[in-house]
Amino acid sequence: MKLSHALAALIIAWCAVLGCIQAVTLEVKQGNSTCIKAELSASFSITYNTSSSTRTVQVPLPDSTTVDTGSSSCGTADSSPWLVAVFGPGHALGLSFSTNGSQYSVANLTLQYNLSDASIFPEANSSDVVTVVSASVGIWATINTTYRCVSPSTFRVGGATVTFSNMRLEAYMPGNDLSPTESVCMADQASTTAPPTTASTTTTAAPAPTPPGTPERGTYSVKNGNGTACLLAQMGLQLNISYFSVSQNKTVQELINLTPDLTNSSGSCEASSASLVLTQERSTTLTFMFSLNSTSKKYHLSGITVLANLTDATAPFTASNTSLDYLRSTLGRSYMCNAEQTLAVVPTFSLNTFRLQVQPFAVTTNQFATAEECQMDQDQMLIPIIVGAALAGLVLIVLIAYLIGRKRSHAGYQTI
Ligand SMILES: *[C@@H]1O[C@H](CO)[C@@H](O)[C@H](O)[C@H]1NC(C)=O
Ligand SMILES: *[C@@H]1O[C@H](CO)[C@@H](O)[C@H](O)[C@H]1NC(C)=O
Ligand SMILES: *[C@@H]1O[C@H](CO)[C@@H](O)[C@H](O)[C@H]1NC(C)=O
Ligand SMILES: *[C@@H]1O[C@H](CO)[C@@H](O)[C@H](O)[C@H]1NC(C)=O
Ligand SMILES: *[C@@H]1O[C@H](CO)[C@@H](O)[C@H](O)[C@H]1NC(C)=O
Ligand SMILES: *[C@@H]1O[C@H](CO)[C@@H](O)[C@H](O)[C@H]1NC(C)=O
Ligand SMILES: *[C@@H]1O[C@H](CO)[C@@H](O)[C@H](O)[C@H]1NC(C)=O
Ligand SMILES: *[C@@H]1O[C@H](CO)[C@@H](O)[C@H](O)[C@H]1NC(C)=O
Ligand SMILES: *[C@@H]1O[C@H](CO)[C@@H](O)[C@H](O)[C@H]1NC(C)=O
Ligand SMILES: *[C@@H]1O[C@H](CO)[C@@H](O)[C@H](O)[C@H]1NC(C)=O
Ligand SMILES: *[C@@H]1O[C@H](CO)[C@@H](O)[C@H](O)[C@H]1NC(C)=O
Ligand SMILES: *[C@@H]1O[C@H](CO)[C@@H](O)[C@H](O)[C@H]1NC(C)=O
Repeated sequence: MKLSHALAALIIAWCAVLGCIQAVTLEVKQGNSTCIKAELSASFSITYNTSSSTRTVQVPLPDSTTVDTGSSSCGTADSSPWLVAVFGPGHALGLSFSTNGSQYSVANLTLQYNLSDASIFPEANSSDVVTVVSASVGIWATINTTYRCVSPSTFRVGGATVTFSNMRLEAYMPGNDLSPTESVCMADQASTTAPPTTASTTTTAAPAPTPPGTPERGTYSVKNGNGTACLLAQMGLQLNISYFSVSQNKTVQELINLTPDLTNSSGSCEASSASLVLTQERSTTLTFMFSLNSTSKKYHLSGITVLANLTDATAPFTASNTSLDYLRSTLGRSYMCNAEQTLAVVPTFSLNTFRLQVQPFAVTTNQFATAEECQMDQDQMLIPIIVGAALAGLVLIVLIAYLIGRKRSHAGYQTI
């Protein structure tokens, strides 16, 4: 009894720190042989409507998740291998695979959730079972190797996002166990090529953080299945995070600049939504979600999600807000703001943008369309105009004064 209490307390503490992200093992078999095996942790960020507002919930893939043997399959001549994991009443995560002989990839990612489940979606004003699908998620590996991605990676699926971490996965398996050879994802490669950790030697008090200055401007894009860019972005990014520092025993403010050279971009483009996921090494994942209103032909930045691995915090920092309204522009145009902008996301996190230009929809020929500029830029443009006008006015006054003066002195000579 005592032991089980202690264990329960430990599990609750563990969950509090890690946000209760659990690892599950899922297997699809045909007869006695395994064709798909996945070990992973996943969590979902899902937005739904109540009668009075819109809510976003974070749902972890629970330990009790099982493979739906009825829907899952190892594939046939005309169907792809499919892993369907089910949890709770009517929730499911599906991964469908394809191969070209030398590589295999996740062809589509499906998320199904049941809004009638009041334990996850309290006060939902709908009881629908919602199914969302995202194609070409960018998970691929060489055949006969295991795909490995310890770093969290986030994918936009319809209006939801799916974040995988600690992922080891193989399809078209040659044996019943994961192949020992691994195809390591880009995010993990970036961190393993970094010099060996020096963190353990720095036991001295953390130096006072120096402001990192203006961030470098990065150029990012998201490509379609056929390789053409469907989302373009250029910007300098600075994260402003407030978190509890272990070494200083207090809440501190930290500014982190994203370094374009160390940052990978991915994402997805759909008819009325698009996402841009920026991953800096193993440490930071920043997701931008854009929405298009097809009636008004206007788009805006509707959501930002961040996951940052801070060395001095007890747990990775996460924040998300999917009801934002920033960077408003018109379909067929890009949005530009050279001035620094602060995008408030949650009280503990805001994002500073510098020399920004984005176009999440209707990108043609890999180029930005005509830009709609932010008010701040327009105001700044006004300053030289006002100064110029004032100068011109001054010159005119001096000229008039001179002319009047000259006339008067002429008149003076004539009277003599
Ligand atoms: C599966 O394994 C069992 C015993 O290990 C064997 O009897 C059976 O024939 C096998 N089935 C197939 C389809 O290989
Ligand atoms: C919430 O309701 C609005 C208005 O009816 C609708 O446009 C939107 O798609 C709904 N959102 C979700 C997540 O169902
Ligand atoms: C759910 O709520 C949204 C607003 O939050 C509303 O627009 C929508 O019509 C409601 N849907 C139903 C089925 O009541
Ligand atoms: C996703 O893959 C599954 C299994 O291959 C398939 O049944 C489904 O139609 C696919 N969905 C889309 C939208 O491609
Ligand atoms: C959705 O959840 C409700 C309530 O938990 C349950 O009665 C219903 O069967 C579920 N739907 C599906 C398709 O599983
Ligand atoms: C398989 O696809 C990958 C990229 O998707 C490509 O690099 C590779 O050359 C392809 N292999 C064959 C045999 O088509
Ligand atoms: C994968 O492994 C199987 C069994 O070991 C082998 O038959 C097959 O040729 C391998 N495929 C590749 C592309 O190496
Ligand atoms: C690429 O695919 C998109 C849709 O996925 C389509 O709109 C576009 O025309 C395609 N471009 C080319 C060059 O095929
Ligand atoms: C960071 O956020 C804090 C609190 O929101 C704010 O006081 C501070 O000015 C911000 N710093 C920068 C450089 O944006
Ligand atoms: C942290 O600060 C609190 C009050 O500010 C203090 O009570 C506590 O002892 C401190 N802990 C450590 C480890 O210094
Ligand atoms: C955070 O960073 C540490 C060391 O840099 C690394 O060991 C750990 O795996 C990282 N965690 C995540 C969730 O990326
Ligand atoms: C789209 O724009 C129209 C016209 O401005 C507006 O009436 C409608 O509510 C908007 N839809 C959404 C989902 O915001």
